[in-house]
Amino acid sequence: MGFADTITAEDLDRDPAPILARLREEAPVAWIPALEMWFVTRWDDVQTMEDHPEVFSAATEPSFLARTLGRNMLTQDPPACTRIQRAMKPPFLRAGRSGTFVEDELPAMCDELIEGFRDQGAFDITSGYADAVSAGSLAAVLGLDAHGWEEVWRWCEGVCTGVANFARDPELFAVGQRAADAIEVAVLARLDELRLRPEASGLLHFLRAEEDLTAAEIVNNVRLMISGGINEPRDGIALVVWTLLSDDGLRLKALGSAAAMRRVVDEVLRRYTPVGTITRQTTQPTELAGIPLPAGVLVSGILRSVNLDPARFRDPERIVLSRTEGANAAFALGAHRCIGEWLGRQEIRVGAERLLRNLPGLRLDPDHEVELHGFEFRGPKSVRVVWDS
Ligand code: HEM
Repeated sequence: MGFADTITAEDLDRDPAPILARLREEAPVAWIPALEMWFVTRWDDVQTMEDHPEVFSAATEPSFLARTLGRNMLTQDPPACTRIQRAMKPPFLRAGRSGTFVEDELPAMCDELIEGFRDQGAFDITSGYADAVSAGSLAAVLGLDAHGWEEVWRWCEGVCTGVANFARDPELFAVGQRAADAIEVAVLARLDELRLRPEASGLLHFLRAEEDLTAAEIVNNVRLMISGGINEPRDGIALVVWTLLSDDGLRLKALGSAAAMRRVVDEVLRRYTPVGTITRQTTQPTELAGIPLPAGVLVSGILRSVNLDPARFRDPERIVLSRTEGANAAFALGAHRCIGEWLGRQEIRVGAERLLRNLPGLRLDPDHEVELHGFEFRGPKSVRVVWDS
């Protein structure tokens, strides 16, 4: 029995780092029986997967993603996904709706949330702040803000329950389906409104895109955004605040310059990689790092591992603002690189900065240790802070 045979899903959820380090060293392309998939843990090999979507396809069968959300850009390969990405990415760029949102609305949204708990003197920033900034930002950019961040957050929890239902529990499917239905009703109603009264928003952009998106394409891909574009900035805000409150020198640097704060966000996303994996399926027999892979198997490219690959990053466990090794893989490296990257980075930067600037004497609550959990998606369960109220 080799090391890979002993790996369990529970171990990976609890503490993936030592497992991934050993795989990188001893078995960089390894069959993991407990998960019934191959793990690829070195930078160069995941880059090869990303460079060859015709061999490592995102159109997996079965697809938990397609079953809950309907067919979307992340369940298709180029060129089908390219058309949708081209139509849907602009609102998430600085030049689109996200630019005006981040400039004119995001800081005030953060400040208002902070005012709501300032008097308490202690707070868990993951619930009621990081989640609110994250869900509220996506809702505002899409044009669904009339629903309020709490409802959008509930949709997110619902569809994520369906997507992560690996045990195929019918009740959990039903939870996912209810959330997917609610998103459909909300999006279709909003599209009707926007046809009558156009207002700058992601949904209006999708409606007018020259790629002629169908209503189903808009609905399914908005479901994808809600399932994938809320937890990550939430975890990112919590991780950056935790990192900065754990290191006074780094915190001073980050608050001293916008460029340093951007580097902190990038390094924290590399160091902790909230989206840990990309899942693909081989379309033909192939070989990776000299290991033969049959056709039709699931292959997981472990972004969290390649971001700590010492062959790519010197002293990978350290947060180093002056790194020169090049891009990291937190937003993936290929055909499905995150379309919400720019917006996600700004949510984390502004969300963390407003908190650190607004609350005097902000520090980690010494009675509550920060614990990370999860494998595919990994972030802090809670980050409790206190300040001088
Ligand atoms: C810190 C924040 C974020 C991180 C770390 C992150 C990470 C990722 C990663 C790793 C992928 C690739 C998944 C794969 O190839 O299997 C991805 C794809 C995607 N992300 Fe993000 N994401 C973030 C924020 C957002 C936001 C704010 C949105 C809002 C629209 C978003 C929407 C998407 C979509 C739609 C895809 C699929 C792209 C495609 O299939 O072409 N993400 N993201």
